[in-house]
Amino acid sequence: MSRSLFPARALRGEVTVPGDKSISHRAVMLGALAEGDTHISGFLMGEDCLSTISCFRKMGVKIDVTDNAVVVHGAGLHGLQPPAELLYTGNSGTTTRLLCGILAGQPFSSTLNGDASIQKRPMGRIIIPLERMGAKIDGRDGNLCPLHLSPAPLTGIRYELPVASAQLKSAVLLAGLFAAGTTTVIEPAPSRDHTERMLRGMGAEVVSDGCTITLTPPQRLHAVDIDVPGDISSAAYFLVAGLIVPDSDIIIRNVGINPTRTGILDALEAMGAHIERRNLRGTVEPVCDLRVRSSRLHGTVIGGALIPRLIDELPVLAVAAAFADGETVIRDAQELKVKESNRIAAMTAELSRAGADIRETEDGMVIQGGKLLHGADFVSCADHRIAMSMAVCALGCSGSSTIDDPACAAISYPAFFDTLDSLREPRTTRSDKL
Ligand code: S3P
Repeated sequence: MSRSLFPARALRGEVTVPGDKSISHRAVMLGALAEGDTHISGFLMGEDCLSTISCFRKMGVKIDVTDNAVVVHGAGLHGLQPPAELLYTGNSGTTTRLLCGILAGQPFSSTLNGDASIQKRPMGRIIIPLERMGAKIDGRDGNLCPLHLSPAPLTGIRYELPVASAQLKSAVLLAGLFAAGTTTVIEPAPSRDHTERMLRGMGAEVVSDGCTITLTPPQRLHAVDIDVPGDISSAAYFLVAGLIVPDSDIIIRNVGINPTRTGILDALEAMGAHIERRNLRGTVEPVCDLRVRSSRLHGTVIGGALIPRLIDELPVLAVAAAFADGETVIRDAQELKVKESNRIAAMTAELSRAGADIRETEDGMVIQGGKLLHGADFVSCADHRIAMSMAVCALGCSGSSTIDDPACAAISYPAFFDTLDSLREPRTTRSDKL
């Protein structure tokens, strides 16, 4: 069912965004492979992370879920059981790719598959290095899901990643847990390093020297308590909303600011954003509160090593660019084409519906900002980040808009629309808005 979206006069107040999606997935996966109980607080109860839980339960791992706390009763590195049925990964690329790395090293066969979007996403990028380690993987047409894995002994490799992808890096490192000898991955630019941090926290030796990461397979991983910080990818919607809606002042509590994830702050600050970092804290993963106030934004160039540090925030950054003065160029971002949707095509089409001046390029978008945007009937392409980005855009459009599939936000942020509405000033009733 579609949802109406209305312009906002001001956004004020505080929000706490749900737990980080990448860290939540890894907490379940590594907790399952550890010895002892992993207590996870702040876990993201989004559909993607629930897919990860469901896959590990099918391999005999006991996982208790209450409200937003999760306890994973670890099976140990060699304790996963053969699944009796297909492992269904839903819409989640992270579940599919990281799990494939783990399954490659198991002494049993397994089959992985996901929804229509997952069945289109490239898996050749993980199959190639995993096969080089000795894994046996059959994909549909070679490099697509479903993937069927058969048991085979693994040997560590030294592998240069063709793209800066944390999913690819993590799949190889996780397979390395079960390999003979060390595994080294070399990234073209640093991508999120949550796997490396968590593995170290659980006792594994992971040495990282800039873009080169080496894992020595451990005898065992030991369970630790994990407090998942708020997801900066979810905070990004409120950052851009607060910047583009006049008279706004929003505090976003408990946001993870791992330096491999803060490209969004760097890009927005380069565009003239007023964002304050307060109460810096956190050990394994740094955390702070963010305060954002409406700001006059100007265009910028976003490319190179910045891209992997803000890859999931590019759709909402395109919205910020449409409200900024002057030109914004997003380049080196061809990876956007193989996300939950082709996000370059999707954002170009959706922002154009509102009257933005945006042009698709081979590896990104060029946006001439500052046009007056009008409300429109937006299409999410079944992609949570497109739906939420267009909801932010609608706040700054003249007239009302709709979004066709607001429910897809539940992949990463089930309460997104209500939380966004809770910030509206002056407080309005539905009849006021109409
Ligand atoms: C993720 C890595 C990124 C990101 C995805 C989550 C992860 O994908 O887009 O949402 O948790 O490792 P790539 O590594 O494929 O760029």
